[in-house]
Amino acid sequence: MIKIRSLVKDFDGHCVLNGVNLDVAAGDIKVVMGASGCGKSTLLRCLNRLLDVTSGSIHFMGNDITHKDTDVRQLRQQIGFVFQQFALYRHLSVLDNVTLALRKLRGLSRADANEKASFELEKLAMIDHRHKYPAQISGGQKQRVAIARALAMDPSMIVFDEPTSALDPIMSREVAALIRTLNEERVTILCVTHDVALGKVLSDNVVFLDRGEVKAEASFDYLCHDHPDAEVRAFFGRGESR
Ligand SMILES: Nc1ncnc2c1ncn2[C@@H]1O[C@H](COP(=O)(O)OP(=O)(O)OP(=O)(O)O)[C@@H](O)[C@H]1O
Ligand SMILES: [Mg+2]
Repeated sequence: MIKIRSLVKDFDGHCVLNGVNLDVAAGDIKVVMGASGCGKSTLLRCLNRLLDVTSGSIHFMGNDITHKDTDVRQLRQQIGFVFQQFALYRHLSVLDNVTLALRKLRGLSRADANEKASFELEKLAMIDHRHKYPAQISGGQKQRVAIARALAMDPSMIVFDEPTSALDPIMSREVAALIRTLNEERVTILCVTHDVALGKVLSDNVVFLDRGEVKAEASFDYLCHDHPDAEVRAFFGRGESR
């Protein structure tokens, strides 16, 4: 579904992504981990065209979306994004946060958008909160609204950027379980995080991004115990209970 090749992104000569190769197969759940500042969010921003790449290619369902004639609106309907800080609109109710893109991008009537949004909110146990505003719900609940908003567009895949960084450990586990459930329901997932516990719940394997380069794609066990680089072992050793 996603094929990234030799992706380079620099900002004013400062190289942040240095030849990244990454594949995400349909139905897959792919976890990318790395230290703060290694380029995870930059990679995702290239993927939904919030940033233009410096060189390299990103194929999504066979099309190179780095081309300037890419339909960015359509791309963003096909790939749902759940951001680090949820990015809900503070002045809109939970329901309207979910209906907005359905009405503005999809052109659904308010009634149809409400019906679709209610279906997704119900699924995420947020329907009773639909008339509240973001300030009136918890972090975990905001995260579920952000996920409902992404799901409402029936995307081919959902990309998560640090979905648990603003959550306490209990809510983090809930969101991790939720992401797994989505994947079991055949939503393709790409998740970037530095939360080792989250990564482990989501996948046995992980892509390790280090200073803009993919350094390894391997099991947690290998990265934690057997990887030749002590820095890598230390990174994955955090929170290790074996
Ligand atoms: N718009 C920008 N202009 C200049 N530099 C940028 C820009 N966006 C990101 N960077 C730089 O790129 C590097 C990678 O940033 P990025 O946000 O991708 O890291 P990250 O891996 O997501 O980190 P974190 O785990 O803290 O979220 C950082 O050094 C950052 O300062
Ligand atoms: Mg980031």
